[in-house]
Amino acid sequence: MPGGLPWLFADPRGTTAAWRARLTLLLGELRREAAACGAAITADVSSRTRERLGLLEAAYRDHADRLAGLLEPFGTGTAVASHDTLQALRTRLPGSQGLTNYYANIHRDWAWGDDENQASLALLTSVIDAGLAGERVLVLGAGAGRLAYDLHRAQQPALTFAMDINPLLLAVAREMYAGRSLELYEFPIAPRGIADHARLRTLRAPAPADERLHLIAGDALHAPFEPGTFDVVVTPWFIDIVEAPFTLLAARVNGLLADGGRWLNLGSIAFASAQRAEQLSLEEALQVVQQCGFAPPVVREAELPYMRSPASRHARIESTVAWCARRHSAATEPAAPDLLPPHLLDATLPVPLPPELAAHAAATRIHAFLLSLIDGRRSLADIAGVLVEQRMMAPADAAPAVRAFLLRLHEDAARRANY
Ligand SMILES: C[S@@+](CC[C@H](N)C(=O)[O-])C[C@H]1O[C@@H](n2cnc3c(N)ncnc32)[C@H](O)[C@@H]1O
Repeated sequence: MPGGLPWLFADPRGTTAAWRARLTLLLGELRREAAACGAAITADVSSRTRERLGLLEAAYRDHADRLAGLLEPFGTGTAVASHDTLQALRTRLPGSQGLTNYYANIHRDWAWGDDENQASLALLTSVIDAGLAGERVLVLGAGAGRLAYDLHRAQQPALTFAMDINPLLLAVAREMYAGRSLELYEFPIAPRGIADHARLRTLRAPAPADERLHLIAGDALHAPFEPGTFDVVVTPWFIDIVEAPFTLLAARVNGLLADGGRWLNLGSIAFASAQRAEQLSLEEALQVVQQCGFAPPVVREAELPYMRSPASRHARIESTVAWCARRHSAATEPAAPDLLPPHLLDATLPVPLPPELAAHAAATRIHAFLLSLIDGRRSLADIAGVLVEQRMMAPADAAPAVRAFLLRLHEDAARRANY
Protein backbone atom coordinates (compact mmCIF):
# COMPACT_ATOMS: atom_id res chain seq x y z
CA MET A 1 0.00 0.00 0.00
CA PRO A 2 2.49 2.68 -1.11
CA GLY A 3 1.68 6.18 0.09
CA GLY A 4 -1.35 4.90 2.01
CA LEU A 5 -3.11 3.93 -1.23
CA PRO A 6 -4.42 0.42 -1.85
CA TRP A 7 -2.12 -0.64 -4.71
CA LEU A 8 -4.33 -3.19 -6.46
CA PHE A 9 -2.45 -4.08 -9.62
CA ALA A 10 -2.01 -7.62 -10.96
CA ASP A 11 1.76 -7.17 -10.62
CA PRO A 12 2.13 -4.66 -7.77
CA ARG A 13 5.93 -4.77 -7.61
CA GLY A 14 6.34 -4.54 -11.37
CA THR A 15 3.93 -1.59 -11.52
CA THR A 16 5.74 0.20 -8.69
CA ALA A 17 9.04 -0.34 -10.49
CA ALA A 18 7.56 0.95 -13.76
CA TRP A 19 6.25 4.15 -12.16
CA ARG A 20 9.49 4.57 -10.24
CA ALA A 21 11.36 4.37 -13.55
CA ARG A 22 9.09 7.02 -15.07
CA LEU A 23 9.54 9.30 -12.09
CA THR A 24 13.31 8.91 -12.28
CA LEU A 25 13.20 9.90 -15.95
CA LEU A 26 10.87 12.82 -15.25
CA LEU A 27 13.02 14.18 -12.41
CA GLY A 28 16.12 13.90 -14.58
CA GLU A 29 14.32 15.70 -17.41
CA LEU A 30 13.15 18.53 -15.11
CA ARG A 31 16.62 19.02 -13.67
CA ARG A 32 18.13 19.09 -17.15
CA GLU A 33 15.45 21.58 -18.21
CA ALA A 34 16.35 23.78 -15.21
CA ALA A 35 20.01 23.65 -16.18
CA ALA A 36 19.14 24.47 -19.82
CA CYS A 37 17.13 27.53 -18.73
CA GLY A 38 20.06 28.62 -16.54
CA ALA A 39 22.51 28.14 -19.41
CA ALA A 40 20.28 30.20 -21.73
CA ILE A 41 20.75 33.27 -19.48
CA THR A 42 23.62 34.76 -21.43
CA ALA A 43 24.82 38.34 -21.70
CA ASP A 44 22.85 38.62 -24.97
CA VAL A 45 19.37 38.13 -23.53
CA SER A 46 17.16 41.03 -22.47
CA SER A 47 16.30 41.70 -18.84
CA ARG A 48 12.74 40.40 -19.35
CA THR A 49 14.01 37.16 -20.91
CA ARG A 50 16.49 36.82 -18.06
CA GLU A 51 13.59 37.21 -15.63
CA ARG A 52 11.56 34.45 -17.37
CA LEU A 53 14.46 32.04 -17.66
CA GLY A 54 15.48 32.63 -14.06
CA LEU A 55 11.93 31.95 -12.90
CA LEU A 56 11.76 28.73 -14.91
CA GLU A 57 15.18 27.54 -13.80
CA ALA A 58 14.21 27.86 -10.14
CA ALA A 59 10.69 26.51 -10.72
CA TYR A 60 11.79 23.36 -12.58
CA ARG A 61 14.27 22.54 -9.85
CA ASP A 62 11.76 23.16 -7.09
CA HIS A 63 9.06 21.29 -9.03
CA ALA A 64 11.32 18.22 -9.28
CA ASP A 65 11.91 18.32 -5.51
CA ARG A 66 8.20 18.71 -4.79
CA LEU A 67 7.24 15.79 -7.05
CA ALA A 68 9.98 13.64 -5.53
CA GLY A 69 8.63 14.51 -2.06
CA LEU A 70 5.01 13.84 -3.00
CA LEU A 71 5.85 10.46 -4.53
CA GLU A 72 8.49 9.50 -2.00
CA PRO A 73 6.16 6.99 -0.27
CA PHE A 74 6.16 5.03 -3.53
CA GLY A 75 9.85 4.41 -3.05
CA THR A 76 10.46 6.60 -6.03
CA GLY A 77 13.05 8.87 -4.49
CA THR A 78 16.12 6.96 -5.56
CA ALA A 79 17.29 6.08 -9.04
CA VAL A 80 16.53 2.50 -10.04
CA ALA A 81 18.83 2.35 -13.02
CA SER A 82 20.74 4.76 -15.15
CA HIS A 83 18.70 7.20 -17.18
CA ASP A 84 19.96 5.57 -20.39
CA THR A 85 18.91 2.08 -19.32
CA LEU A 86 15.44 3.29 -18.39
CA GLN A 87 15.12 5.11 -21.71
CA ALA A 88 16.05 1.97 -23.60
CA LEU A 89 13.84 -0.46 -21.68
CA ARG A 90 10.68 1.66 -21.29
CA THR A 91 8.05 0.09 -19.06
CA ARG A 92 5.01 -2.15 -19.23
CA LEU A 93 2.47 0.48 -18.25
CA PRO A 94 0.22 1.69 -21.09
CA GLY A 95 2.63 3.52 -23.37
CA SER A 96 0.40 6.57 -23.57
CA GLN A 97 0.18 7.05 -19.79
CA GLY A 98 2.96 9.25 -18.46
CA LEU A 99 3.13 10.68 -14.94
CA THR A 100 2.41 14.20 -16.15
CA ASN A 101 -0.06 13.52 -18.99
CA TYR A 102 -2.94 14.99 -17.05
CA TYR A 103 -0.94 17.31 -14.83
CA ALA A 104 -3.08 20.32 -15.85
CA ASN A 105 -6.16 18.54 -14.47
CA ILE A 106 -4.69 18.82 -10.97
CA HIS A 107 -4.86 22.61 -11.08
CA ARG A 108 -8.28 22.63 -12.76
CA ASP A 109 -9.56 20.24 -10.08
CA TRP A 110 -8.18 21.92 -6.99
CA ALA A 111 -7.02 25.48 -7.77
CA TRP A 112 -8.89 27.57 -10.36
CA GLY A 113 -11.47 25.30 -12.00
CA ASP A 114 -14.61 25.78 -9.90
CA ASP A 115 -16.76 26.84 -12.86
CA GLU A 116 -15.60 23.94 -15.00
CA ASN A 117 -15.95 21.45 -12.18
CA GLN A 118 -19.48 22.62 -11.44
CA ALA A 119 -20.43 22.52 -15.13
CA SER A 120 -19.16 18.93 -15.40
CA LEU A 121 -21.08 17.86 -12.32
CA ALA A 122 -24.24 19.59 -13.57
CA LEU A 123 -24.07 17.88 -16.97
CA LEU A 124 -23.50 14.47 -15.42
CA THR A 125 -26.26 14.99 -12.87
CA SER A 126 -28.67 15.99 -15.65
CA VAL A 127 -28.69 12.42 -17.02
CA ILE A 128 -29.10 10.65 -13.67
CA ASP A 129 -32.69 9.40 -13.51
CA ALA A 130 -32.73 8.69 -9.76
CA GLY A 131 -30.27 9.82 -7.05
CA LEU A 132 -27.34 7.68 -5.94
CA ALA A 133 -28.11 7.74 -2.20
CA GLY A 134 -27.13 4.44 -0.60
CA GLU A 135 -25.52 3.08 -3.79
CA ARG A 136 -22.02 1.67 -4.35
CA VAL A 137 -20.12 3.79 -6.87
CA LEU A 138 -16.88 3.10 -8.75
CA VAL A 139 -15.17 5.89 -10.70
CA LEU A 140 -12.74 4.61 -13.34
CA GLY A 141 -9.89 6.92 -14.37
CA ALA A 142 -10.72 9.33 -11.56
CA GLY A 143 -7.51 11.34 -12.09
CA ALA A 144 -6.84 13.92 -9.39
CA GLY A 145 -10.26 13.06 -8.04
CA ARG A 146 -12.44 16.17 -8.25
CA LEU A 147 -15.48 14.78 -10.07
CA ALA A 148 -15.55 11.71 -7.80
CA TYR A 149 -15.38 14.06 -4.79
CA ASP A 150 -18.11 16.40 -6.07
CA LEU A 151 -20.40 13.55 -7.10
CA HIS A 152 -19.91 11.84 -3.75
CA ARG A 153 -20.70 15.02 -1.82
CA ALA A 154 -23.71 15.88 -3.95
CA GLN A 155 -25.28 12.43 -4.18
CA GLN A 156 -24.31 10.80 -0.86
CA PRO A 157 -23.85 7.22 -2.10
CA ALA A 158 -23.09 4.49 0.46
CA LEU A 159 -19.50 4.50 -0.78
CA THR A 160 -17.41 5.70 -3.66
CA PHE A 161 -14.19 4.12 -4.93
CA ALA A 162 -12.15 6.52 -7.06
CA MET A 163 -9.66 4.51 -9.06
CA ASP A 164 -6.79 5.56 -11.28
CA ILE A 165 -3.56 4.16 -12.62
CA ASN A 166 -1.42 7.26 -12.07
CA PRO A 167 0.32 7.62 -8.68
CA LEU A 168 0.96 11.35 -9.04
CA LEU A 169 -2.72 12.16 -9.57
CA LEU A 170 -3.68 9.77 -6.78
CA ALA A 171 -1.15 11.30 -4.38
CA VAL A 172 -2.70 14.72 -5.02
CA ALA A 173 -6.21 13.32 -4.53
CA ARG A 174 -5.07 11.67 -1.29
CA GLU A 175 -3.89 15.02 0.10
CA MET A 176 -7.06 16.81 -1.03
CA TYR A 177 -9.43 14.18 0.37
CA ALA A 178 -7.56 14.31 3.68
CA GLY A 179 -8.20 18.07 3.83
CA ARG A 180 -4.52 19.00 3.53
CA SER A 181 -3.27 21.67 1.16
CA LEU A 182 -0.49 21.26 -1.34
CA GLU A 183 1.63 23.70 -3.32
CA LEU A 184 2.51 22.69 -6.88
CA TYR A 185 3.55 24.64 -9.95
CA GLU A 186 1.33 25.15 -12.92
CA PHE A 187 3.12 25.46 -16.27
CA PRO A 188 0.40 26.73 -18.66
CA ILE A 189 0.47 25.96 -22.40
CA ALA A 190 0.38 29.63 -23.39
CA PRO A 191 1.42 31.76 -20.39
CA ARG A 192 -0.22 35.20 -20.29
CA GLY A 193 2.81 36.97 -18.85
CA ILE A 194 6.26 36.22 -17.51
CA ALA A 195 5.08 35.25 -14.04
CA ASP A 196 2.58 32.81 -15.59
CA HIS A 197 5.31 30.59 -17.00
CA ALA A 198 5.52 28.89 -13.61
CA ARG A 199 2.73 29.66 -11.14
CA LEU A 200 3.01 28.12 -7.70
CA ARG A 201 -0.59 27.23 -6.85
CA THR A 202 -2.13 26.21 -3.58
CA LEU A 203 -4.36 23.18 -4.05
CA ARG A 204 -7.10 22.50 -1.54
CA ALA A 205 -10.50 20.81 -1.36
CA PRO A 206 -13.45 22.83 -0.05
CA ALA A 207 -13.64 20.37 2.87
CA PRO A 208 -12.11 17.00 3.76
CA ALA A 209 -13.83 14.02 2.15
CA ASP A 210 -15.86 11.71 4.36
CA GLU A 211 -14.72 8.19 5.20
CA ARG A 212 -16.93 6.65 2.50
CA LEU A 213 -14.85 8.07 -0.35
CA HIS A 214 -11.86 5.80 -1.06
CA LEU A 215 -8.94 6.03 -3.43
CA ILE A 216 -7.57 2.97 -5.20
CA ALA A 217 -4.58 2.58 -7.46
CA GLY A 218 -5.38 0.03 -10.15
CA ASP A 219 -5.96 -0.67 -13.80
CA ALA A 220 -9.56 -0.04 -14.81
CA LEU A 221 -9.35 -2.84 -17.36
CA HIS A 222 -8.54 -5.27 -14.56
CA ALA A 223 -10.53 -3.72 -11.75
CA PRO A 224 -9.92 -5.76 -8.59
CA PHE A 225 -13.57 -6.41 -7.72
CA GLU A 226 -16.00 -9.31 -7.84
CA PRO A 227 -18.46 -9.18 -10.75
CA GLY A 228 -21.59 -7.21 -9.91
CA THR A 229 -20.02 -5.29 -7.00
CA PHE A 230 -21.29 -1.84 -7.96
CA ASP A 231 -24.60 -0.08 -8.54
CA VAL A 232 -22.93 2.70 -10.51
CA VAL A 233 -19.77 2.88 -12.61
CA VAL A 234 -18.64 6.37 -13.67
CA THR A 235 -16.19 6.97 -16.53
CA PRO A 236 -15.23 10.67 -16.56
CA TRP A 237 -13.14 11.70 -19.59
CA PHE A 238 -11.95 8.14 -19.84
CA ILE A 239 -13.59 5.99 -22.53
CA ASP A 240 -11.69 7.53 -25.44
CA ILE A 241 -8.23 7.60 -23.86
CA VAL A 242 -8.01 4.15 -22.31
CA GLU A 243 -5.87 1.72 -24.29
CA ALA A 244 -8.59 -0.82 -25.07
CA PRO A 245 -11.27 -1.31 -27.70
CA PHE A 246 -14.48 0.35 -26.53
CA THR A 247 -16.38 -2.96 -26.77
CA LEU A 248 -14.00 -4.49 -24.25
CA LEU A 249 -14.32 -1.53 -21.87
CA ALA A 250 -18.13 -1.59 -22.18
CA ALA A 251 -18.18 -5.33 -21.38
CA ARG A 252 -15.90 -4.80 -18.36
CA VAL A 253 -18.10 -1.96 -17.07
CA ASN A 254 -21.10 -4.25 -17.49
CA GLY A 255 -19.29 -6.97 -15.52
CA LEU A 256 -18.64 -4.63 -12.58
CA LEU A 257 -22.30 -3.64 -12.31
CA ALA A 258 -25.08 -5.41 -10.44
CA ASP A 259 -28.35 -6.09 -12.29
CA GLY A 260 -30.11 -2.80 -12.96
CA GLY A 261 -26.87 -0.89 -12.22
CA ARG A 262 -26.03 2.29 -14.09
CA TRP A 263 -23.12 3.35 -16.25
CA LEU A 264 -22.58 7.11 -16.04
CA ASN A 265 -20.27 8.51 -18.66
CA LEU A 266 -19.02 12.06 -19.10
CA GLY A 267 -16.47 13.53 -21.46
CA SER A 268 -15.30 13.87 -25.01
CA ILE A 269 -15.90 11.43 -27.84
CA ALA A 270 -12.46 11.58 -29.42
CA PHE A 271 -11.33 8.01 -29.88
CA ALA A 272 -7.79 8.32 -31.14
CA SER A 273 -6.94 4.64 -31.60
CA ALA A 274 -4.60 3.75 -34.41
CA GLN A 275 -7.21 1.16 -35.52
CA ARG A 276 -9.64 2.84 -37.90
CA ALA A 277 -12.54 0.65 -36.78
CA GLU A 278 -11.98 1.93 -33.22
CA GLN A 279 -12.24 5.63 -34.07
CA LEU A 280 -15.87 5.70 -32.98
CA SER A 281 -18.36 8.50 -33.32
CA LEU A 282 -21.08 9.00 -30.70
CA GLU A 283 -23.64 6.96 -32.67
CA GLU A 284 -21.26 4.00 -32.87
CA ALA A 285 -20.36 4.24 -29.18
CA LEU A 286 -24.04 4.27 -28.19
CA GLN A 287 -24.67 1.22 -30.36
CA VAL A 288 -21.82 -0.62 -28.61
CA VAL A 289 -23.27 0.32 -25.22
CA GLN A 290 -26.58 -1.27 -26.17
CA GLN A 291 -24.89 -4.35 -27.64
CA CYS A 292 -23.11 -4.78 -24.31
CA GLY A 293 -26.18 -5.41 -22.17
CA PHE A 294 -27.39 -1.86 -21.50
CA ALA A 295 -30.78 -0.26 -22.21
CA PRO A 296 -30.77 2.72 -24.62
CA PRO A 297 -28.95 5.42 -22.67
CA VAL A 298 -30.23 8.85 -21.70
CA VAL A 299 -27.80 11.18 -23.50
CA ARG A 300 -27.13 14.91 -23.12
CA GLU A 301 -24.52 17.08 -24.76
CA ALA A 302 -23.25 20.53 -23.80
CA GLU A 303 -20.47 22.85 -24.83
CA LEU A 304 -18.28 23.07 -21.75
CA PRO A 305 -15.23 25.23 -21.11
CA TYR A 306 -12.23 22.98 -20.68
CA MET A 307 -8.91 23.83 -19.02
CA ARG A 308 -9.50 27.58 -18.97
CA SER A 309 -6.60 28.48 -16.71
CA PRO A 310 -6.43 32.15 -15.72
CA ALA A 311 -2.68 31.96 -16.36
CA SER A 312 -3.04 30.73 -19.95
CA ARG A 313 -4.04 32.27 -23.26
CA HIS A 314 -5.09 28.82 -24.39
CA ALA A 315 -8.38 27.16 -23.50
CA ARG A 316 -10.74 24.68 -25.10
CA ILE A 317 -14.45 24.37 -25.58
CA GLU A 318 -15.48 20.73 -25.58
CA SER A 319 -18.72 19.32 -26.90
CA THR A 320 -19.09 17.15 -23.84
CA VAL A 321 -21.33 14.11 -23.77
CA ALA A 322 -22.96 12.57 -20.72
CA TRP A 323 -24.98 9.39 -20.65
CA CYS A 324 -26.69 7.15 -18.17
CA ALA A 325 -27.17 3.55 -19.33
CA ARG A 326 -28.90 0.91 -17.25
CA ARG A 327 -27.59 -2.65 -17.32
CA HIS A 328 -30.25 -5.23 -18.18
CA SER A 329 -28.16 -8.30 -18.99
CA ALA A 330 -24.63 -9.65 -18.98
CA ALA A 331 -22.35 -8.76 -21.87
CA THR A 332 -20.26 -11.18 -23.86
CA GLU A 333 -16.64 -10.15 -23.68
CA PRO A 334 -15.02 -9.74 -27.08
CA ALA A 335 -12.15 -12.13 -27.76
CA ALA A 336 -9.22 -11.19 -25.56
CA PRO A 337 -6.68 -9.04 -27.38
CA ASP A 338 -3.44 -10.87 -28.17
CA LEU A 339 -2.15 -12.76 -25.15
CA LEU A 340 1.46 -12.27 -24.18
CA PRO A 341 3.81 -14.67 -25.95
CA PRO A 342 5.15 -17.59 -23.84
CA HIS A 343 8.72 -16.22 -23.47
CA LEU A 344 7.28 -13.20 -21.63
CA LEU A 345 5.38 -15.45 -19.25
CA ASP A 346 8.20 -17.93 -18.62
CA ALA A 347 11.56 -16.24 -18.09
CA THR A 348 13.50 -19.45 -18.83
CA LEU A 349 12.28 -19.86 -22.45
CA PRO A 350 14.49 -18.72 -25.35
CA VAL A 351 13.41 -15.38 -26.81
CA PRO A 352 12.45 -16.11 -30.46
CA LEU A 353 14.11 -14.19 -33.30
CA PRO A 354 11.59 -13.66 -36.13
CA PRO A 355 12.92 -11.99 -39.33
CA GLU A 356 11.46 -8.57 -38.50
CA LEU A 357 13.21 -8.61 -35.12
CA ALA A 358 16.47 -9.76 -36.71
CA ALA A 359 16.23 -6.81 -39.12
CA HIS A 360 15.46 -4.47 -36.23
CA ALA A 361 18.44 -5.82 -34.25
CA ALA A 362 20.75 -5.34 -37.26
CA ALA A 363 19.49 -1.77 -37.72
CA THR A 364 19.99 -1.10 -34.02
CA ARG A 365 23.58 -2.36 -34.19
CA ILE A 366 24.27 -0.03 -37.11
CA HIS A 367 22.60 2.80 -35.19
CA ALA A 368 24.81 2.05 -32.18
CA PHE A 369 27.90 1.88 -34.41
CA LEU A 370 27.10 5.27 -35.92
CA LEU A 371 26.56 6.76 -32.47
CA SER A 372 29.89 5.32 -31.34
CA LEU A 373 31.60 7.22 -34.16
CA ILE A 374 30.47 10.52 -32.67
CA ASP A 375 33.37 11.25 -30.34
CA GLY A 376 33.48 15.03 -30.34
CA ARG A 377 36.34 15.09 -32.86
CA ARG A 378 35.16 13.39 -36.07
CA SER A 379 33.36 15.53 -38.66
CA LEU A 380 30.34 14.46 -40.72
CA ALA A 381 32.76 13.70 -43.58
CA ASP A 382 35.02 11.64 -41.27
CA ILE A 383 32.05 9.55 -40.12
CA ALA A 384 30.91 9.01 -43.71
CA GLY A 385 34.52 7.99 -44.54
CA VAL A 386 34.44 5.27 -41.86
CA LEU A 387 31.20 3.87 -43.31
CA VAL A 388 32.79 3.71 -46.75
CA GLU A 389 35.97 2.11 -45.35
CA GLN A 390 33.87 -0.52 -43.58
CA ARG A 391 32.05 -1.17 -46.88
CA MET A 392 28.76 -0.30 -45.27
CA MET A 393 27.87 2.32 -47.90
CA ALA A 394 28.86 3.56 -51.33
CA PRO A 395 30.88 6.82 -51.24
CA ALA A 396 28.09 8.77 -53.01
CA ASP A 397 25.48 7.73 -50.40
CA ALA A 398 27.49 7.91 -47.20
CA ALA A 399 27.66 11.67 -46.57
CA PRO A 400 23.94 12.37 -47.25
CA ALA A 401 22.96 9.39 -45.10
CA VAL A 402 25.14 10.56 -42.19
CA ARG A 403 23.77 14.09 -42.58
CA ALA A 404 20.17 12.79 -42.38
CA PHE A 405 21.08 10.68 -39.36
CA LEU A 406 22.70 13.59 -37.51
CA LEU A 407 19.80 15.85 -38.40
CA ARG A 408 17.36 13.37 -36.89
CA LEU A 409 19.46 13.20 -33.71
CA HIS A 410 19.46 16.98 -33.56
CA GLU A 411 15.66 17.15 -33.98
CA ASP A 412 15.05 14.37 -31.46
CA ALA A 413 17.16 16.21 -28.90
CA ALA A 414 15.04 19.35 -29.39
CA ARG A 415 11.81 17.43 -28.77
CA ARG A 416 10.71 17.00 -25.14
CA ALA A 417 9.99 13.52 -23.93
CA ASN A 418 6.88 12.65 -21.96
CA TYR A 419 7.26 10.55 -18.84
C1 LIG B 1 -8.44 12.35 -19.48
S1 LIG B 1 -7.94 11.87 -17.86
C2 LIG B 1 -9.41 12.19 -16.94
C3 LIG B 1 -9.15 12.28 -15.47
C4 LIG B 1 -10.36 12.70 -14.65
N1 LIG B 1 -11.45 11.78 -14.80
C5 LIG B 1 -10.76 14.10 -15.03
O1 LIG B 1 -11.86 14.26 -15.55
O2 LIG B 1 -9.97 15.01 -14.80
C6 LIG B 1 -7.90 10.11 -17.98
C7 LIG B 1 -7.52 9.40 -16.68
O3 LIG B 1 -7.53 8.00 -16.89
C8 LIG B 1 -6.42 7.44 -16.19
N2 LIG B 1 -6.15 6.13 -16.81
C9 LIG B 1 -5.67 5.86 -18.04
N3 LIG B 1 -5.64 4.53 -18.27
C10 LIG B 1 -6.10 3.95 -17.14
C11 LIG B 1 -6.31 2.60 -16.76
N4 LIG B 1 -6.03 1.59 -17.58
N5 LIG B 1 -6.82 2.37 -15.53
C12 LIG B 1 -7.09 3.39 -14.69
N6 LIG B 1 -6.91 4.67 -14.99
C13 LIG B 1 -6.43 4.96 -16.20
C14 LIG B 1 -5.33 8.47 -16.34
O4 LIG B 1 -4.33 8.32 -15.37
C15 LIG B 1 -6.12 9.76 -16.19
O5 LIG B 1 -6.21 10.14 -14.84
